[in-house]
Amino acid sequence: MTRGLGRRMVWQDMRVNLAAHPFAWPAARALRNLGAVVRVPGVGVVVNSALVAHDVLSQDRTFVKQGPGSIAEAFTEAFGPSALANMDGQSHRELRQRLGPLASVAQADAWLNSARAPFERAVAALASGATVDLARTARELSGRLTLTMMGAIPDRVSPAEEEGIDRAARDVHALGERIASSLQLRNLSKSVSPLVQADLSRLLAYAHDAFARDDLPPTSLVARLKALGCDAEETRGILSIFFVAGALTLGVALPRIASLLIESAQLARVRDDHAAVVRAVDEGLRYTCPVPATMRIAAHDAEVGPVRVQKGERLLILTANLSRDAELFPNPDRFDISRQHDPRARYLWYGAGPHFCLGFTLAQRTLQYAVGALANVPGTLQVVRRRSARGVLLPAWLELHVAQRAP
Ligand code: HEM
Repeated sequence: MTRGLGRRMVWQDMRVNLAAHPFAWPAARALRNLGAVVRVPGVGVVVNSALVAHDVLSQDRTFVKQGPGSIAEAFTEAFGPSALANMDGQSHRELRQRLGPLASVAQADAWLNSARAPFERAVAALASGATVDLARTARELSGRLTLTMMGAIPDRVSPAEEEGIDRAARDVHALGERIASSLQLRNLSKSVSPLVQADLSRLLAYAHDAFARDDLPPTSLVARLKALGCDAEETRGILSIFFVAGALTLGVALPRIASLLIESAQLARVRDDHAAVVRAVDEGLRYTCPVPATMRIAAHDAEVGPVRVQKGERLLILTANLSRDAELFPNPDRFDISRQHDPRARYLWYGAGPHFCLGFTLAQRTLQYAVGALANVPGTLQVVRRRSARGVLLPAWLELHVAQRAP
């Protein structure tokens, strides 16, 4: 990659992050220069080092999800006590163990196969010379995945029904964004808008009704959860966290990675080469880090790298900084799909330890499928127009119009 292209990558990445978090993102980047672990008054103990973060995330008895000032509090208020991301200790481990089959490749592929129609259409359109908004397509794909998991898409979809399903999929993505953004706020019931409260009520009513039904498609998440022995409350919690995590993350990650690959002229290097596609997705996730931060509370006094933390203190793990930790990723601001990732920080953008992302296999399979399909579009793709999303929780392209470069 030339120096000019490299600078462009850094600028595009900055642009999408600044549009989402105009104050927090520059502050987080500045903290990266202040040390591996930094205490910030009013925020908590900020972790920038990949190895220290890995340690913290792995010690789930010392650094827990629940506690005053945690996001887990808002999750519990919104989704009940069984939403995984707000659980600790034995009950969390026991539930995760029961949910193991959900993380299988076969399950992920079954969901992906039922949801990929919008992406297939987009790739065909690109091949025929049309311009496609990949951000919108990705929202349709990830929204469809969510609808599929919820059992809301019939087994056979007629061409006339496709448009309505695409619209519903975009709505689901937007709903996920609204709910996720509101969950940043500490006191949900006081601060959340009536609109979001209504969204939440609809989602929870859906979970309640779906649990009571016997005619859901067997591949749907609710049918799978029932088969795995989950009760109504667990189903409500897991469905909610899948809804928010699943609908959002893939929809934002896919266009960001596609944009990097296209603009750095590295997309063609993965054509017909699955191993290269896998590396490209890994480097794309490292560079974009779709979930930029997570949080823990110290259950008792402990050491975090060089810093002593006290019981009850809040830890902010800045995933976006971990993935640019020069100790593990030399020249970290360079996007390079041939980079060998240090095994000690492998997949850190999906977390680590007992709370490691439950959607990992689905996310990897989906992103690998999409990057492979884009790489096989004949000719060379270019980004013709783009717009970043403002004020969103997860940095994203609102529009990313892509077309073949004229020969
Ligand atoms: C590129 C896409 C994704 C990224 C980068 C990502 C990232 C993460 C991260 C960082 C965590 C751990 C947070 C923590 O430790 O506090 C997490 C947890 C989780 N993710 Fe994902 N995720 C992605 C896609 C998905 C998808 C598609 C689903 C489901 C459909 C999903 C479901 C979950 C669930 C249920 C948890 C909570 C696990 C637990 O607490 O036990 N994720 N994800």
